[in-house]
Amino acid sequence: MSEVYPVPDAVASAALIDNARYLEMYEASVNDPEAFWGEHGKRLDWIKPYSKVKNTSYDPHNVDIKWFEDGTLNVAANCVDRHIATRGDQVAIIWEGDDPSEHLEITYKELGQHVNTMAGVLRNAGVKKGDRVTLYLPMIPEAAYAMLACARLGAVHSIVFGGFSPNSLAQRISGCDSKVVITADEGLRGGRKVPLKANVDKAVETAPVDAVVVVKRTGGDIAMQDGRDIWYHEAAANAPDFIEPEEMNAEDPLFILYTSGSTGQPKGVLHTTGGYLTYASMTHQYVFDYQDGDVYWCTADVGWVTGHSYIVYGPLANGATTLMFEGVPTYPSPSRFWDVVDKHKVSIFYTAPTAIRSLMGAGEEHVKKTSRSTLRILGSVGEPINPEAWNWYYNVVGEGRCPIVDTWWQTETGGILITPLPGATALKPGSATRPFFGVQPALVDAEGQILDGATEGNLVILNSWPGQMRTVYGDHERFVQTYFSTYKGMYFTGDGCRRDEDGYYWITGRVDDVINVSGHRMGTAEVESALVAHPKVSEAAVVGYPHDLKGQGIYVYVTLMEGEDPSDDLRKELVKWVRQEIGPIASPDLIQFAPGLPKTRSGKIMRRILRKIAEDSFDNLGDTSTLADPSVVTDLIDNRQNKS
Ligand code: PRX
Repeated sequence: MSEVYPVPDAVASAALIDNARYLEMYEASVNDPEAFWGEHGKRLDWIKPYSKVKNTSYDPHNVDIKWFEDGTLNVAANCVDRHIATRGDQVAIIWEGDDPSEHLEITYKELGQHVNTMAGVLRNAGVKKGDRVTLYLPMIPEAAYAMLACARLGAVHSIVFGGFSPNSLAQRISGCDSKVVITADEGLRGGRKVPLKANVDKAVETAPVDAVVVVKRTGGDIAMQDGRDIWYHEAAANAPDFIEPEEMNAEDPLFILYTSGSTGQPKGVLHTTGGYLTYASMTHQYVFDYQDGDVYWCTADVGWVTGHSYIVYGPLANGATTLMFEGVPTYPSPSRFWDVVDKHKVSIFYTAPTAIRSLMGAGEEHVKKTSRSTLRILGSVGEPINPEAWNWYYNVVGEGRCPIVDTWWQTETGGILITPLPGATALKPGSATRPFFGVQPALVDAEGQILDGATEGNLVILNSWPGQMRTVYGDHERFVQTYFSTYKGMYFTGDGCRRDEDGYYWITGRVDDVINVSGHRMGTAEVESALVAHPKVSEAAVVGYPHDLKGQGIYVYVTLMEGEDPSDDLRKELVKWVRQEIGPIASPDLIQFAPGLPKTRSGKIMRRILRKIAEDSFDNLGDTSTLADPSVVTDLIDNRQNKS
């Protein structure tokens, strides 16, 4: 039995939703989704109100997802313009720089000016409704301006995280045929410079674009190509003051975000306008119990979906004050998060288990020397939070006062699907607890039979919610195959999950070939294809293994070409290679040179065995009798690399 933390009365009485209200609203949301979402869609300002609410099919022959399909609206108008009359002087974005001496407060009125200017610059660079624009930016306010400027023009943004290499960036620019890239001279993280513009220069050699808009961040020395590269500050001086927000259909695309799957190429997850914004804003309000006067901080990067939905779109649609942080948790010291909480009086704080674990390792004294008295709600996202980290977060950071919302969701889901609500849900450390309104999770066995009661299985969702992705950009068939074919008529999440006797959900991790490194998704097939592109590598197999800080680490088995010798130098070379091919976020943690990989007689690599060896569970290898050469397993065990 796990510990249960009941909702403190004081929290329940001040919260937007208590348990009775949760149960009542949840029931209404699944009994009559049309009526429920028809009502909650009104939280947005529509240019033309919708008359149809839900039109969705999970039938694998005809997967089609539409919400509010005859309504029109503009996302930037909802996130900015509509707040100017009522809260123009309220701070919309608090920006905290990498260096603690730098911060900015941007009001809704100022945000409006910046978004219009950016939209003007983009329009002058030729961007029109429907065009794709790639953003490769550090965590600076211009990232939010650029997202909202695209939305204002009806252009579709595709953000590429700054930790991706020029190759990965090029793949994502050409994948959606972007004609414009927005970047900065350099990024700044933990006192170190990230060569963003130089990376763009390399990427556009293979993925040419018409224009590169460059924001000056560090003033570092970069090359500017005449006729293609535009300094943002220069172009801004000639941009119009006001750009009319484009009238968009609810189902027009808002953004593409590439994410890893179980096969080689990353998928362009496509989110649309009306349903996405309804869902992002509603979840932001209720999951974090956001109320006027709160200062809300999500520590993610806008390069990931968490940054899209819960730094920019959800909070700004709600007229919230959202904090954007350029730096890292441990710079200049492991007190940084808590110093920022005190400096800006943060009341709601949302981060990832990997950050919690690394700060936990640095020691309580870094937390205890700060006040944190403004904190009210804590959140977690990205991977299962281990109970030890949960308890530290709850007791040391939150001093037992602040509910933790452990939010389970995915790039594909657009917003949070399974989560506690602070005033409604008793907490169990490590459980994402119960579904959000309108979400119908189920557990199925390998045949797709729905399992009842306390049990374990694969997590599926039975009915659509407005924030769901609509397609894989340019490849609807891949969308259908990936998510709706494994279990007919259901959305398959790729996650394993347990449900306990109270109906609480406990995510157990991915059941496909995706691993979760520091809360970031990495397809093992992507790392493998990077490795086999190296001239000395003949074969590679990549699996995850438990890693104290990262959750999962990247364990690589490599077979070298005939005549090549294993060495530590070659290990280093391969790590460098993967960083160059995919980016620093894909750096292998351990590399084992293997003369042979365990294969079936038909030549298929048996990853199950490789996973077990990497996990150190040699007694439990299962049946190895079908292997073409069972002796490779002994060699693999004998030469297993030590955990870092
Ligand atoms: O395995 C789940 C894990 O992260 C995956 C989604 O990754 P991504 O699309 O990059 O989005 C991350 C941020 C939403 C899921 O399939 N995951 C995410 N949140 C949790 C989680 N696993 C357990 N508990 C969570 N709270």
